[in-house]
Amino acid sequence: MNKRFYIETYGCQMNEYDSEILAGILLEHDYILSDSPENADVILLNTCSVRDHAEQKIHSRLGELKHFKDKNPALKLGVVGCMAQNMKKDLLESKPYVNLILGPDSYRNILRHLDSDQTQTIDTRLSKFEVYDGLFPARKEGINAWISIMRGCNKFCSYCIVPYTRGRERSRSIAGIVDEAQRSVDKGFVEITLLGQNVNSYDHDGKRFPALLEALTAVKGIKRIRYTSPHPQDVDETLMKVHAGYKPLIANHIHLPLQAGSDAVLKAMNRTYTQSHYLKLTDMIRKYVPDMGITTDIIVGFPGETDADFRETLRVMNSVKYDSAFTFKYSPRPYTKAWDMEDNVSENEKAARLTELIRLQKKHTLENYRNLIGKDVEILVEAPSKRDPNEFKGRTACNKITVFPAGVYRPKDLVKRTVTDAQGITLFSRP
Ligand code: 5AD
Ligand code: SF4
Repeated sequence: MNKRFYIETYGCQMNEYDSEILAGILLEHDYILSDSPENADVILLNTCSVRDHAEQKIHSRLGELKHFKDKNPALKLGVVGCMAQNMKKDLLESKPYVNLILGPDSYRNILRHLDSDQTQTIDTRLSKFEVYDGLFPARKEGINAWISIMRGCNKFCSYCIVPYTRGRERSRSIAGIVDEAQRSVDKGFVEITLLGQNVNSYDHDGKRFPALLEALTAVKGIKRIRYTSPHPQDVDETLMKVHAGYKPLIANHIHLPLQAGSDAVLKAMNRTYTQSHYLKLTDMIRKYVPDMGITTDIIVGFPGETDADFRETLRVMNSVKYDSAFTFKYSPRPYTKAWDMEDNVSENEKAARLTELIRLQKKHTLENYRNLIGKDVEILVEAPSKRDPNEFKGRTACNKITVFPAGVYRPKDLVKRTVTDAQGITLFSRP
């Protein structure tokens, strides 16, 4: 008889992709998808360890799911992903009702573990090679297909747990990726987003990221290509030439994590660039692609960050004028280099810096959006707007949400529009 599985995904897009990989394996083997944890025979939580808060969320979610186990002792409850890798058997010991711990490189073994008679199994060996080539993820219907092109990270930023939970960098072949992209498009997806912890550190037998991007432009029927997230160290002119040469098929958006603006903090973070290097890079990007939408990640309150250091982050923001930013308070993570540094910026100070940063970013967002008024943009139509059925919603190539009166559009159409207004993080447009 078919068994029902339910997956809940936390954290980054790589986890979303991995959940689709897991679902793909299970659906091929007598399992069917359940859209709620009720009545499921298997519940998997795909977890994140990047900040302490992310792990706390999982701890409390597991507490809730324990009730399902009380009702149905045959239920298998699994924790997979970064927190599984991070906590290993500690998690089984502290939560004896958890049956399965599976690290990010062990998903091919899921069926074996689910079939096992043991009440608790654990598999957290990291691999130098696993890229899940040849497995086809079970994607939900939609516009965009995520495609993982490389896994792991060799950069060892001093705050980051990812190199410890996801192991070393390894890349898939161009042929494998192009094949997955073509199959996704043939199934009805029109956009692909390439994923990797450092997507542009891609290196397969000496073939680098710009060559991969160029190869993907040949996929028949593809309307848009995106990627996330690149590391500034590996962004170069070759990449920007490909961007410029294949615009707008390769979308004019780059998510370029800054993390901090001060050279002292960047050095302590092991980010491998200085403020001036980063600013030269954004200048270079805009030389090749003047309308590039640039977004970023920023951490406040790294150990030793002074107020003057923090002002340097604001300085970079004022210079680059990001379209948007994901902003975080520093959270000490075990195993990392920064774990041994004193977390000496107070919680109040972190909160105050975050507030200031968010306020500045809101101002830049609105400025950038307003600067688009009167400009022509290409929109990939997504769906009727939830708020108003007389409106449609879509996304510009520079990754901004746009609404416009419903007309003869169908989802997945590419349409040219002129921006008429900007409010909050929404653009309005007309033909
Ligand atoms: N504390 C706070 N933020 C972190 N990030 C990674 N590690 C930490 C940490 N220990 C942020 C970085 C990264 C994003 C995915 O999460 O900004 O780019
Ligand atoms: Fe973490 Fe740095 Fe690697 Fe990104 S580049 S995953 S922030 S270690």
